[in-house]
Amino acid sequence: MNNKKILVTGGAGYIGSHVVQQLGAADEQVIILDNLSTGFKAAVTSGELVVGDTGDENLLNRLFSEHEIDTVMHFAAHTIVPESVADPLKYYRNNTANSRTLLDAANRHHVKHVVFSSTAAVYGVLSEGKASEKCATNPINPYGTSKLMTEWMLRDLNIAGGPSYVALRYFNVAGCDPSGLIGQSTPNATLLVKVACEVAVGSREQVAVFGTDYPTPDGTGLRDYIHVEDLASAHLAALRYLRSGGDSTTLNCGYGHGYSVREVLAAVARANGKPLTVVEEPRREGDPPELVAIADRVRSVLDWQPKFDDLDKIVSSSLAWERKISARDPSAYWPD
Ligand code: UD1
Repeated sequence: MNNKKILVTGGAGYIGSHVVQQLGAADEQVIILDNLSTGFKAAVTSGELVVGDTGDENLLNRLFSEHEIDTVMHFAAHTIVPESVADPLKYYRNNTANSRTLLDAANRHHVKHVVFSSTAAVYGVLSEGKASEKCATNPINPYGTSKLMTEWMLRDLNIAGGPSYVALRYFNVAGCDPSGLIGQSTPNATLLVKVACEVAVGSREQVAVFGTDYPTPDGTGLRDYIHVEDLASAHLAALRYLRSGGDSTTLNCGYGHGYSVREVLAAVARANGKPLTVVEEPRREGDPPELVAIADRVRSVLDWQPKFDDLDKIVSSSLAWERKISARDPSAYWPD
């Protein structure tokens, strides 16, 4: 255990809460800053929860003054691609401007390291197929742009003597804590696996396939689905790497192979033991046809080994959580 604390913004959210759980298991001391706009108090299984905003400078100054924080893990963000297309300034305020406020406060209080939750959406549509960290970044939606701007702030601040950082570019995160204690409870979900599991348990009528005319093997979108437990363990590996003096870097977080929308829906139906109600719809705005990682560097740089690289395991854990949510109250987002 390190005697310094970790500030986790967005630690009551889907990915942040899985990281907090693993940090707790590793005996790290954690302060969670979350405004609970999409997160849940009950998702915080370890550490001290402070309800507030990453854009609140006074609160940040207080937290950094009161606690010896050496690392910030920054998850707090809006994450819905179509919403970012409809309301870009919402994304630039929360994901970019609030990140600037956070980095400014962290830097002034001599925080040493930042682990940043970035996204594969920074790549946009790739002409060269799979995404390596060397590919040009050309986001095609404000969500991706809002995150890329934070990557740039981290880079420039580090050059100017600020914290060292690891920016993790997430591909498609899915699955839940296999013990069933925490899971994905985002209201009004748009993510494919979550939506399909809601259909499987009967809390949603149907799942749409957005676009069947993409230049992909079965005409539907291809994505690299990574289990949230593996993604969370990559954050702990990034923490160890930075604390042992690793240089700032940006890493893809995926498994390096993709599944189509139809393959994901088939896996959910398999896990559920019966077919889902599926309809076909036009392409969704802001969606690239294919986003799959070249994911070698995260393994070698962070010495990270995934444990759940299996679509059936991923969707089964999501489905188990969805069943747990819907068992008592179909309109609830978190089980009692
Ligand atoms: C997700 C991430 C984004 C990341 C990207 C990486 C979130 C909110 N988004 O976006 O940050 O950059 O992965 O690849 O975490 N689809 C359907 N029907 C549905 C929902 C989705 O057909 O009801 C299709 C989409 O068109 C897409 C695929 O399923 O082809 C995945 O979509 P989704 O789960 O929404 O994630 P992304 O948009 O890829």
